[in-house]
Order: sequence, then C-alpha cells, then structure tokens
Amino acid sequence: MPRSVVRALAPYKAGTSIGEVRERFGLERIVKLASNENPLGSSPKALAALAHLEGLHLYLDDAHLELKTALAGRYGLSAENVVLGHGSNELVGLIAEMLLEPGREAVMATPSFQLYRLATLVRGAAAVEVPLVEGKHDLEAMLAAVTERTALMFLCDPNNPTGSALDRSQWETLLTRLPSHVTLVIDRAYSEYMDADAPDVTAFIQRRPKTLVLRTMSKIYGLASLRVGYGFGDTESIGWLDRIRLPFNVSLPAALGARGALDDDAFVRRSIEVNEAGKAYLGAAFARLGLRAYPTQANFFAVEVPVEATRAYEALLERGIIVRSGDALHMPGRLRVTIGIPEENRAFIAALEELLVQWRG
Ligand SMILES: Cc1ncc(COP(=O)(O)O)c(C=O)c1O
Repeated sequence: MPRSVVRALAPYKAGTSIGEVRERFGLERIVKLASNENPLGSSPKALAALAHLEGLHLYLDDAHLELKTALAGRYGLSAENVVLGHGSNELVGLIAEMLLEPGREAVMATPSFQLYRLATLVRGAAAVEVPLVEGKHDLEAMLAAVTERTALMFLCDPNNPTGSALDRSQWETLLTRLPSHVTLVIDRAYSEYMDADAPDVTAFIQRRPKTLVLRTMSKIYGLASLRVGYGFGDTESIGWLDRIRLPFNVSLPAALGARGALDDDAFVRRSIEVNEAGKAYLGAAFARLGLRAYPTQANFFAVEVPVEATRAYEALLERGIIVRSGDALHMPGRLRVTIGIPEENRAFIAALEELLVQWRG
C-alpha cells in the first residue's frame, strides 16, 4: 500500500478541458477561460525555434547553460542562480522535497495555489494555512504562524486565485521579520502581467539567502504544454535543487521553445496590452452588473456570483463558457475567470448577464 499520507490525498483536478465540454454538451463554440493561459496562443518565436528541432535521438545537454544564462542575464545573475523545471510545478515539488519531512511545516495562504498544500502533505509535513483577508495575504498572521518547525513559506504574488499582490512596504516587513531558518518561495507565475511599478522581487535573492523566486514559460509566453518553469535563488539553494531533480527534466523541445520565446518582446508586449484592455472591460462590466471582484494584477479575476459557485460554473459550462468554480479553489461564492481576447470576454459577459436575470429572479 502507498504511504498513509498518499492514501489520504484527494486527486488534483485541473480545469475542465474544451474536449470534455464539447462531448458533454455537443457545442461548437467553446470559450475556455479556466486555466489562465494566454488567449493569443504561443509566442511565434517559440514556434519558429521548434521548427528547427533536430537531434531527438540523442540525450540532450542537461546543463541548459545557454537558456539559464539568458534567463539569469535579465536580472544581473549567473547561471548558477537558476534551476529549470518541468513547469514551475516541478520546482514547487523539488523545493518541498529539499526541505520538508514529518515534523516540519510549511506556511501558506488559503485560498492560494493548491499545489503548495499537496507538495507539503505528500512529504508528510504539515501545511499551515493562513486565510486571506479580502483576497489579500494576511502578512501579520503568516509571520505569527512561523515556528522553529517552519522550513518553508509559500507566497504567491500575484496570488492565484485572487490576483492580489504585496506592496513594497509589505515586502520590507517580510524580508526584515521572516526568521532566517525559513526558505521564502515567491511564486511569480504571473509576473509579466503585473503593474509596471511592481517590486522587483528577484533582487531579494541577493539580500536574503534562502529566497527563491519561481517563474514560468506557461503563462505570458503561451507555452503551458511545453512545460518549462525556472527558479532564481542563491547558489547554495539552487545547488541542492539541481542535485535532487531528475536528469533531463526539461526536454530539448521545451528548452528550444523557451529560448526562442525569451526574445519575443513583441509578443509579450501585445499580450500585456490585450490583458490590460480585457481587464478594463471586465472590471467595468462587473461593476455595471453589481458583481464584486478583487482588484487583480494577473490575467484573471475572482468575481463574486449571487448563487453557489458550482451552480454558476455549471450554468456557464452549458453555454460553452469554461471558468473555474471557486468551490474547487477554497473560494466559495466566486468564480475565477481568465481574461481573454475581446470576443471571449464579451461572450462570457453576455452569458453571465443572461444568467443573472434568472438568478436574481
Ligand atoms: C501560481 C502558479 N504557480 C505555478 C503554476 C504552474 O505553472 P507551470 O505550468 O509552470 O507548472 C501556476 C499555473 O496555473 C500558477 O497559477
């Protein structure tokens, strides 16, 4: 039998797929706003790099020095400050593997990215979950939750599923007050979508050892299925992570695509513009419809609905709109909806508006 902690786990449920909805409802047009993907597709430069793929019969050069150097160079770091993962998901797991065991604890917010809890529990450690306040991290409560058993603090910024981010003074508080035995993991999966004046958290790794910043190629670069994530940190932490990862955890196509995408400033700029326009449109529509949404610094909204979240999710699904039910994300009464391209946003709002008439009777 598997270990008792494994037997106690509920399976991870990803967002509903387009194929599932097509099969269930026989719909032609389906709008997927469920998994915070880039609605413009993949970076054209990534796709162009993949067209030159060769040498698949050989094991790749697992050091990925060129990709690491390119990533590090953007922040004045060196390749030794970078670890690559099969998505940043893998890095969350590796960090837990490095630090957690029975008797140790990880502090995290709830609701936040659910993988932190799963990665913690699988290692037999305790997940200390601190409720958000109004969709934001309760920093005081998180600091108060730290004990000598705490090995790790996960901080998702912007937070998935609420979109909130810490401000400069909150970061200062955290950096000065978080005890030095705790590794701080800052998950910046949505970094590129943030306000232009968002604090540069990567600089923190030079200020505080045991600070790791996680990033991904899955979101703004539109490469979710390629599976490339990266982490920045001090050379010692990165060295440990590199030791415990499996060899060849990032494939040759993944590395090639990621390297191509990194030069695609035009695609990133366009993606940000589309997201900003969609954010303004959806924000105004929610206000007009009397629905409260948290301010967001990411490519999604957590919006309140006047019925149970799962009922709202199912009703939208029937109309070919896939969002995420807050019930599945420890966020009852809300939906998480990804900001799409204009026609997707319009289709979502039109369906929601129709449903609100029904729900409000
Ligand atoms: C906060 C956060 N971190 C990490 C990830 C995982 O990204 P990746 O595709 O790089 O594993 C996601 C994906 O939804 C996310 O929302």
